Amino acid sequence: MKHFTLLAFALAVGTVMAAPKADIAKGKEIATTICAACHAADGNSGIAMYPKLSAQHASYLFTQTKEIKEGKRTTGASAVMMPLVANLSEQDILNVSAYYAKQFPKEGEANPKEDFELGAKIFRGGLIDKKIPACMSCHGPNGAGMPGGGTDIVAYPRLGGQHKAYIVDQMKAYKSGQRKNSIMQDIASRMTDMEMNAVGNFIQGLH
Ligand code: HEC
Ligand code: HEC
Repeated sequence: MKHFTLLAFALAVGTVMAAPKADIAKGKEIATTICAACHAADGNSGIAMYPKLSAQHASYLFTQTKEIKEGKRTTGASAVMMPLVANLSEQDILNVSAYYAKQFPKEGEANPKEDFELGAKIFRGGLIDKKIPACMSCHGPNGAGMPGGGTDIVAYPRLGGQHKAYIVDQMKAYKSGQRKNSIMQDIASRMTDMEMNAVGNFIQGLH
């Protein structure tokens, strides 16, 4: 009998703790009416200051949108986005994150003349003498990243095809401590502007 009680308890807890479901159709409505102005309706923004969101992991999109909404992330021009997401509920953010995660990423291009070899080397193998790890060990060989286990777990974000200027800006923000994340702050603190530019260029063409 004891086993049945425990099982019933486990099932009840499971039901209560189940993550809320995302509604992609509602997410699309939010994306086209609010986010599209900067990130494009399919998430393939053509302007470097607005990051591409297409095929990014939903859990990462959720966390970052919330951080910008709550003023915890202040990098780049996040301030222009803040008032536009101020009225979104957690469910809205869950919906729009699920929508962008399902969009098809448009490939970017690297400039072959801009330290391409160095960028490839940093991304794939790191710089051992400077204790800079290979970016691909977390962000994946094609820059597709790795999903988190749920909306409250930060994934290794997708980087492939992202705008070079945006990547470089984020690396600088980690280095200065404006953007907080112990792993990335540690890595960026050991990188020069030249190395950030090189790896940013490589990432822009990665798919
Ligand atoms: C007025 C322009 C604008 C609008 C509208 C806007 N954003 Fe943004 N968003 C930005 C800017 C600028 C950044 C980059 C900030 C930075 O450089 O760190 C950003 C960053 C993000 C990021 C972080 C991406 C990453 O790779 O870390 C997410 C997620 C995001 N926006 C989601 C949304 C969603 C969802 C909406 C609609 C509900 C939205 N944004 C509407 C300007 C905008
Ligand atoms: C040990 C794992 C790990 C390694 C290695 C790693 N990263 Fe990251 N990276 C992360 C995590 C975790 C995040 C999310 C951090 C956050 O929430 O701000 C991230 C975020 C980023 C972002 C922000 C993405 C966005 O959309 O705003 C950039 C850019 C980035 N990493 C570049 C790199 C580069 C370049 C390298 C190699 C030099 C690298 N990372 C190596 C774990 C890693």
